[in-house]
Amino acid sequence: MAPSMITLPRLMTIGANAHKEVSTTLGKLGVKRPLLVSDAFIRESGILDKITTVLDSSGITWSAFTDTVPDPTTAAVTDGVSALENGRFDCLIAVGGGSPMDTAKAMAVLGTHGGTMRDYKVPNQIDRCEYPIIAIPTTAGTGSEVTRFTVITDTDTDEKMLCMGLAYVPQAALVDYTLTMSMPWRLTADTGIDTLTHAIEAYVSKKHNPFTDGIARSCMSLVSKHLRTACDQPDNISAREAMMLAATQGGMAFSNSSVCMVHGMSRPLGAHFHVPHGLSNAMLLPAVTAFSAPSAMLRYGDCAKAMGCAEHTDTSETAVGKLLEELEQLNSDLKVPSPKDYGIGDNKYFSLLEAMADQALSSGSPANNPRVPSNEEMVAIYEEIYK
Ligand SMILES: [Fe+2]
Repeated sequence: MAPSMITLPRLMTIGANAHKEVSTTLGKLGVKRPLLVSDAFIRESGILDKITTVLDSSGITWSAFTDTVPDPTTAAVTDGVSALENGRFDCLIAVGGGSPMDTAKAMAVLGTHGGTMRDYKVPNQIDRCEYPIIAIPTTAGTGSEVTRFTVITDTDTDEKMLCMGLAYVPQAALVDYTLTMSMPWRLTADTGIDTLTHAIEAYVSKKHNPFTDGIARSCMSLVSKHLRTACDQPDNISAREAMMLAATQGGMAFSNSSVCMVHGMSRPLGAHFHVPHGLSNAMLLPAVTAFSAPSAMLRYGDCAKAMGCAEHTDTSETAVGKLLEELEQLNSDLKVPSPKDYGIGDNKYFSLLEAMADQALSSGSPANNPRVPSNEEMVAIYEEIYK
């Protein structure tokens, strides 16, 4: 087996009140003039204040750009780059879910190299970046705090562009479940199933490796044990802590393996219909798993065993059957709607299927799938899940 190239943040602080290490972290990285990148919700919820209080008490001068948007766009990134260039900043502190973190990554790259995000879309890669990023996730989660990816939507074309490289890996991550305690039910469910999808896809990907396999299995186990509890008992500290750790593990796994067909097909659903990322993954996960499993029965069987929905003595066939049942049950328990029930009109949906399949393919993610789909097969799955 060829060696695996693994990339992770230089520093991760994980656990209750990790956010209080923000000033110490800046010191370790040798930076002292941060621009915080966040959104209006995080600002108004008081979470941003928790970070700035620590900075203030350390005498660190900061500014904040809080105009990031869900499914970050090239337009929002352009505004962020202006904010970055209007001050003498030497680092970025991203506070929020995937959107502020992905925006900060794009700002750091454009602030270093200029151009537009389209210049950096896959298969292009960018490795160097002058602005260290300290990522503080507030959802559990996208895992963006540890990944070498960002996803930015082109404002002109609605395409969700995948961009990758070492430049996008945060230098430090403060992984603090206490910041996730107020996440509402729907967000907890959506981000949790995104985490599960990261682990499953990292595990079955053609790019899987022994390093990511162990992390992915641990992530699947944690999500399976704790996601429903985190949704139904939002104050349950053990469940929140486990889901936050799982989210970071899921990020570590897919960043060093890959995502596959679910994410490839999910991004166009999000781009054209503004379905939240985790929810569009959830809509696709059972159908894509059923499509893919025949090409990787052992691997998908392992997933079922890691999730605890199959016995270790089960054959792969039996375990995969149980996995498919569990994924359907999870979607039912987490009230995942079909695209139709989500309110997507059939005219627009069916007219875009070919384009969505093309966009899925061009992201490169379906090529990592154990069973590589044709455009027609992806169109058929989009049709199947509409219901
Ligand atoms: Fe994801």
